[in-house]
Amino acid sequence: MIRFDNVSKVFGEGQTRVDALRGLSLQIPARQFCTIMGPSGSGKSTVLHLVARLTKPTEGEIYLGDRPLSGMAERDAAMMRRREIGFVFQFFHLIPYLSAEENVSLPLLLDGLSSASVRQQTERVLTLVDLLHRRRHKPSELSGGEMQRVAIARALVTSPRVILADEPTGNLDSTASHAIMRLLRRSSDELGVTVLMVTHDPVCASYGERVVRLMDGQVVEDIDVTEGASEEVSKHVAHRRQDG
Ligand SMILES: Nc1ncnc2c1ncn2[C@@H]1O[C@H](COP(=O)(O)OP(=O)(O)O)[C@@H](O)[C@H]1O
Ligand SMILES: [Mg+2]
Repeated sequence: MIRFDNVSKVFGEGQTRVDALRGLSLQIPARQFCTIMGPSGSGKSTVLHLVARLTKPTEGEIYLGDRPLSGMAERDAAMMRRREIGFVFQFFHLIPYLSAEENVSLPLLLDGLSSASVRQQTERVLTLVDLLHRRRHKPSELSGGEMQRVAIARALVTSPRVILADEPTGNLDSTASHAIMRLLRRSSDELGVTVLMVTHDPVCASYGERVVRLMDGQVVEDIDVTEGASEEVSKHVAHRRQDG
């Protein structure tokens, strides 16, 4: 589904040159819930930006499905982002003067869907995140966890193939974080979405199937957490199963 083929990304030059990614190769199959961990500055956000073609690699190629992204025209990239990719950010990025349902329906309105299907799809995803009853509330009238659930509804409303989540629980308490992780888990299990999530939290990583650890723009560890290969993450997988 997502493939990085020997990707390098350099920002700046000379004294200010930063090698954000160094020859990264990675394949993420469709429907996988994959998490990326690693210290600050290791290239995690750059990976997500490259998948969304918000930036281009300096070397190598990225494929989404069969399509190489680097040669894609700007307007095709914009359409791909709108229709095929859902974003979830640490600080939610909701529009403050719009209600929950208006925030969620925005990607569909931009795509010119009929008002009946906009309403239907918006209700579908607000129900999924259990916020249909708060649909008329503005972000400032919602808790952090609720705002992030609205953001997940917005990410899912176009039925994307991929969700890119950059530290989605970085600003939430543990109860809200679990709710967000359960939603991402369901997106992958029930809706067949490929989820690529950056997190610092091993508990959150335990909701995924795989942890890719980056250091200085390279993969230093790539493990199947369902097999229990990483102690740090897999102890939480075991705990969570006991909790149900
Ligand atoms: N637009 C940019 N211009 C210059 N340097 C950048 C830019 N984006 C990221 N970097 C640098 O690339 C490296 C990797 O950044 P990033 O992918 O954001 O790391 P992470 O998300 O793991 O903290 C960092 O050293 C960062 O400062
Ligand atoms: Mg980052």
